[in-house]
Amino acid sequence: LARGVREPDLAGRHVVVSAGGTREPLDPVRFLGNRSSGKQGYALARTAAARGARVTLVAANASMPDPAGVDVVPVGTAVELREAVLRAAADADAVVMAAAVADFRPATYATGKIKKKDDQEPAPITLVRNPDILAEISQTRARSGQVVVGFAAETDDVLANGRVKLKRKGCDLLVVNEVGERKTFGSEENEAVVLGADGSETPVAHGPKEALADTVWDLVARRLE
Ligand code: CTP
Ligand code: CA
Repeated sequence: LARGVREPDLAGRHVVVSAGGTREPLDPVRFLGNRSSGKQGYALARTAAARGARVTLVAANASMPDPAGVDVVPVGTAVELREAVLRAAADADAVVMAAAVADFRPATYATGKIKKKDDQEPAPITLVRNPDILAEISQTRARSGQVVVGFAAETDDVLANGRVKLKRKGCDLLVVNEVGERKTFGSEENEAVVLGADGSETPVAHGPKEALADTVWDLVARRLE
């Protein structure tokens, strides 16, 4: 095979990837969001397609062109992302949750723009919990042998926190990376450790997000055999 051309080891497989970051609206013009660019999720979708998979990319507020040959489902909020991922996961061999899902959303939505008043302090924003999609997918396993992968960005005790999170979520693999002021968000590169429920630890050296994506698919493909 030519350089950069992959064995189609995911041919005949359907994989679902979530990417980007959810936005939780306060009113028609404002939302609570996060800094996820969607680049890692898009890299996962592209590399899976290059390896022969049928790919559904559930994209939350990512402003990137649709990757060729990938079925893109645009979503806004965590609740919408859950709906789209669950629907696509029904016949999926693997689900990779690379999206940054808001843990909480505003308890109420103002149908008109919230206005400030000269004589009043701002009202506090009450939040409610969003559903944990990764935990739900891991528990449901819509298809037997379905491989479920999560991502975790941690600032401290990266590996220890990752192990606890892997167990709590019940997924097969958790890609853990360290984030900080200048690390990961919006960048072209990534560095991570992939933790397996089987106790395995696969370090991925600093490099392009495609390289991390290919390592994830290697680990997924092995579990699908
Ligand atoms: N995730 C999810 N649904 C949520 C929150 C997170 O599916 N409501 C997924 C993310 O897509 C990611 C993984 O869970 O794949 C880990 O996200 P993370 O925010 O690190 O985990 P949390 O359980 O929310 O823990 P924390 O309190 O550290 O934010
Ligand atoms: Ca979270």
